[in-house]
Amino acid sequence: MTTHLEVALGNRSYRIHIGAGLLGEPQLIRPHLAGNQVLVVSNETVAPLYLESLRGSLADLEVFEHILPDGEAYKTLESLNGIFDTLLRAPCDRQATIVALGGGVVGDMAGFAAACYQRGIAYIQVPTTLLAQVDSSVGGKTAVNHPLGKNMIGAFHQPRCVIADTDVLATLPDRELAAGLAEVIKYGLIRDLEFLAWLESSLDALLARDSAALAHAIEVSCRNKAAVVAADEREAGQRALLNLGHSFGHAIETGMGYGRWLHGEAVAAGMCMAADLSRRMGRIAQSDVDRVTALLTRAGLPVAAPAELNPERLRELMSVDKKVRAGRLHLVLLNHLGDACISDQVPEPLILETLTACRSPA
Ligand code: NAD
Ligand code: GLY
Repeated sequence: MTTHLEVALGNRSYRIHIGAGLLGEPQLIRPHLAGNQVLVVSNETVAPLYLESLRGSLADLEVFEHILPDGEAYKTLESLNGIFDTLLRAPCDRQATIVALGGGVVGDMAGFAAACYQRGIAYIQVPTTLLAQVDSSVGGKTAVNHPLGKNMIGAFHQPRCVIADTDVLATLPDRELAAGLAEVIKYGLIRDLEFLAWLESSLDALLARDSAALAHAIEVSCRNKAAVVAADEREAGQRALLNLGHSFGHAIETGMGYGRWLHGEAVAAGMCMAADLSRRMGRIAQSDVDRVTALLTRAGLPVAAPAELNPERLRELMSVDKKVRAGRLHLVLLNHLGDACISDQVPEPLILETLTACRSPA
């Protein structure tokens, strides 16, 4: 069964298709191509697995390919420039469409290339990781990393459609599946208590890759994300709640060196830290913190910052965050499980207490 959801953004609205075997369904992709030229951006791991199936949906078009090296460490301006080289050498015109075939790294870079090339061309997201299917392919945030900060160079640019073929998850390594579950659990924590309870009872099925459970998790996650993005596309308000745990998590990713911790792993540890801080702020009970930690632990995810990063270093890294305003951190906290808020009033000593308490033993 295929599910079709909408991200309602006026004349830039688009659909998210979720289902098995969608890579081989040309009618999903072809109506969204701006012209006859297509650049497929993928990476050296995903392309050998799925590029051929996608090519079947692009028959009779002028198709170019750009294959990136695999990994967060390559989510750089230098790699982005390589995509521009391919577009210019082709040469691709303004009616070309970029198709991003891969996880969040490919999607964020291909989307940013589309946002910049000739001041903006069309692109389509074909996410192949759980994380990309539930989060990064939806909502139009595109970026590359800078050595000093994660996702610091980027643009908002919405795709023409999102095609999430659940069959491709069969080849995803277990560690990557777990990383995707971190973002799934995030939706339960910030705005969907019923979904959180469902995740607690269905986690074993999800880890065993039960296809119905995975399809449900992707659908509910995308419904939540689409609603938030439609209400606040440019993150003037509630979209920031989607960053639960990210201020801590991005600091871990940057501090450890991009790629050592997966994004979802850093977010998992960051969400435990946000829960701990919410308890210190008197918003949630220790039993709620324990519930968050227990679920993430069952998913095989880290629940504390790495020992290598001391609290002072983490705090320093947290200062380079897109939610910093006039030098003040804006942190996502939990009011209750299933209800988040943003605060710029967190006392520094409490942040340092959390950074100290939520650190793995050396
Ligand atoms: P990723 O793109 O690095 O993919 C994870 C790994 O899985 C890679 O090695 C990839 O080659 C491999 N892979 C992908 N699909 C596969 C498949 N079907 N079978 C086998 N292997 C496969 O990582 P990710 O977790 O997908 O994305 C993380 C990135 O997404 C981070 O850079 C993060 O900042 C970004 N992100 C962006 C947003 C957004 O809103 N734009 C939201 C969340 C995360
Ligand atoms: N992943 C955060 C956002 O899309 O806003």
